[in-house]
Amino acid sequence: MKKILILLLLTIVFYSCNGENPVTEISVIPQPVSIEKTNSSFELNENTTIVFEYGDDGFEKVALYLQKEISKMHHLRLKVMTSGNHPPKNTILLLQDIKTDYGDEGYALISNKNNIQITSRTPRGGFYGTQTLLQLIDVKQTESGFEYNTSIAGVKIFDKPEFTYRGMHLDVCRHFYDKEFVKKYIDLLAMHKMNTFHWHLTEDQGWRIEIKKYPKLTEIGSYRSETMIDKNWDKFDGTPHSGFYTQEDIKEIVKYAEDRFITIIPEIEMPGHSLAALAAYPEFGCNGGPYKVAKTWGVFEDVYCAGNDNTFKFLEDVLSEVIELFPGKYIHIGGDECPKEQWKKCPKCQQRIKEEGLADEFELQSYFIKRIEKFLIANDKKLIGWDEILEGGLAPEATVMSWRGTEGGIEAAKSGHDVIMSPNSDCYFDHYQADPKNEPLAIGGFTSLEDVYNYYPIPEELSANEAKHILGAQANLWTEYIATPEHLEYMILPRMCALSEVVWSNKQTKNFDDFKIRLKKHLYRLGSQNYNFRMPE
Ligand code: ACM
Ligand code: ZN
Repeated sequence: MKKILILLLLTIVFYSCNGENPVTEISVIPQPVSIEKTNSSFELNENTTIVFEYGDDGFEKVALYLQKEISKMHHLRLKVMTSGNHPPKNTILLLQDIKTDYGDEGYALISNKNNIQITSRTPRGGFYGTQTLLQLIDVKQTESGFEYNTSIAGVKIFDKPEFTYRGMHLDVCRHFYDKEFVKKYIDLLAMHKMNTFHWHLTEDQGWRIEIKKYPKLTEIGSYRSETMIDKNWDKFDGTPHSGFYTQEDIKEIVKYAEDRFITIIPEIEMPGHSLAALAAYPEFGCNGGPYKVAKTWGVFEDVYCAGNDNTFKFLEDVLSEVIELFPGKYIHIGGDECPKEQWKKCPKCQQRIKEEGLADEFELQSYFIKRIEKFLIANDKKLIGWDEILEGGLAPEATVMSWRGTEGGIEAAKSGHDVIMSPNSDCYFDHYQADPKNEPLAIGGFTSLEDVYNYYPIPEELSANEAKHILGAQANLWTEYIATPEHLEYMILPRMCALSEVVWSNKQTKNFDDFKIRLKKHLYRLGSQNYNFRMPE
């Protein structure tokens, strides 16, 4: 009894001195379109029931997701049932309303002392509503760990996103990240209502996806003998680096993402950044090699031979397996940073230029991309490439990812092509985020939390009609100098939280000072889920 009393006293003392925890009332990130606070709050307990709209598998999936997430917080396993004979009170209702103007991703969330009701036109909207609900469950740090509140504020929230494309990229080639970490990364995207994961799977320094028809791609291409140290181009760590995803791993991750309403866009780089593939199959390079998986960073002269039909046969075989694995409509084919030196010297490439009546090697690159696009379209997929695919003429239906600034995106949108904005000025999370003196070594650049927050994806140069081609934005995370999950999380958090407001929140409601206040609470949330982050000033 004495022991219990002491424990009780300790608890009370602790509760009363946890004033260092932030006290902002509601802190949802990304900020919803509107929030109205009401007086009555909802109390979660072991009898709370999650009720989902009957007749749509999607809502059941959302209900089960919510059940699982709440069980992680409260160790409560809430009952889940379809609507109909559900209890009148103490329920979390996921309801469908096909007549609402929330769009396909929006929702309304109303909580009061009796129930919490999330209404949406689609299960996806319901999912985003549950993400907001999970953020209404306050978390605070205590001596024994993180503690979640059972009381949920009374609110009326209406919400829908500003942009349809809300993405994060991850380079798993410069440094490999395993399946479990990729899932953790996807969880982070889901929490921030992102809907696209751009998975950069092939590079000079490593090929990371199993292709059954070409086993050497992973047997040879996924392995490099060592890696350059820091920025010393002639000093190496002597440590092999390797790793790849089997097709079973990929299926598991695609399903994991799908359950969180996230589409994966796989990137298979061509014609440049392909040394790892050439190390495995040198016959697809201009000079036959031998080639080695790169140990240093940068851009390499050895690229796929554009004059060899077997190169295209190889790439189409690879893409056929990729298409089978990824159900989304887009395939990213890279297209960036392809030096033309080898093509200038290669008789086959020169022959192709002559035969096709091309003006130069830039038009040869355009020929390359257009030929691949034809194959993708024939297989019911759409091609995305980095903005270099504009050079020499854009493929007819290509979507452009604008990374060398916004000019490529502007040009593409003006010519009627869809665009995803990812300018290195505001969306490169491998850049420094604060004074390099006090930061871990980064590739360079500088993109602060505020820079990210203040970015707006639609350039002023575009008319309202042209602006419709800007689907949204994404941040890129290249991992040359990022070798561990902790460091990776440090680079994206909290910048990704800021990005989520760029792509989701209404431009009129954006306010950096308010974001910073909400972020304080959000960082506890991230900490409680075991994410590392950089503490903003
Ligand atoms: C890129 O950063 N090379 C797309
Ligand atoms: Zn060639």
